[in-house]
Amino acid sequence: MAAAPQPTGRSDIIIDGIIDGKAVAADITAHIATGSARFVEKAGRAPGLAVVLVGDDPASAVYVRNKGKTATRLGFYSVQETLAADIDQKTLADTVRLLNDDDRVDGILVQMPLPSPLDAEAIIDLIDPQKDVDGFHPVNVGRLAAGARAPCLVPCTPAGSVRLAKAALGDDLSGKHAVIVGRSTIVGRPAAQLFLAENCTVTIAHSRTEDLPAVTRTSDILVAAVGRAGLIGAEHVKPGACVIDVGINRIAAPEKGPDATKLVGDVDFATVAPIAGAITPVPGGVGPMTIAMLMHNTLTAACRRAGFTDIDF
Ligand code: GUN
Repeated sequence: MAAAPQPTGRSDIIIDGIIDGKAVAADITAHIATGSARFVEKAGRAPGLAVVLVGDDPASAVYVRNKGKTATRLGFYSVQETLAADIDQKTLADTVRLLNDDDRVDGILVQMPLPSPLDAEAIIDLIDPQKDVDGFHPVNVGRLAAGARAPCLVPCTPAGSVRLAKAALGDDLSGKHAVIVGRSTIVGRPAAQLFLAENCTVTIAHSRTEDLPAVTRTSDILVAAVGRAGLIGAEHVKPGACVIDVGINRIAAPEKGPDATKLVGDVDFATVAPIAGAITPVPGGVGPMTIAMLMHNTLTAACRRAGFTDIDF
């Protein structure tokens, strides 16, 4: 593994240049568990998270179950609304409205993607921005674009990516060149805003970028968020760079058996790891951070709704 430009990262969570996302997430959730207990003492109720799952996509069902389990483990009130794939727009909208009005619920997450023909944007627009723990509502998108202005709630995966970059490089990312590959509303764009808020120089690259390797090779922090297995190879990476792999791609794994599959990221780990200063694995990198940041947003939303400013987590 090439030496990081500034080896300021924590040795307990970066082993041989590989950033242990599970360990960073465990650190964060331990603080949230303490904060949650303090919240219960002061408010006389638990922070509440509601997750809405529409349809029976197996991957979405696993993600939603993990979110609920983590919420329960941290002492949250956790509720899951499961709706059939063929429900109409109004039924889903009414579910969101009920959760907006439910005082036990501080955070609402509608698992994406929604089955067609449901209109996801219209549903996101209905979520109370104070309870929008995904940070997808236009009010929160706007506050983030205005410099993460409070009381903003920021998208979980990008927020987790920034935390992982800080775990590797130290808390001060100012002046670093962050190149984000991917311009999705869920990851690429908010990641760019968050690294900008950390005083990074930020470039967003995407499918129309000319000479992608030339652009990405200038990055100190490279965030891959495209959804294409192995897109980022050694030729894309400056030696010593910090590589954050947001991709989760399921591919065939004939070496494990005829019908076996495995999860891989957007980064070709085997060729990039030897030259990166630090790199996140898939699985075990950004994934656990997404759930940790969701819990963070839920407790943040709960404290804001209750008017508490003195709970540290
Ligand atoms: N589907 C995949 N990632 C996410 C996420 O972060 N939030 C929601 N609501 N759905 C998702």
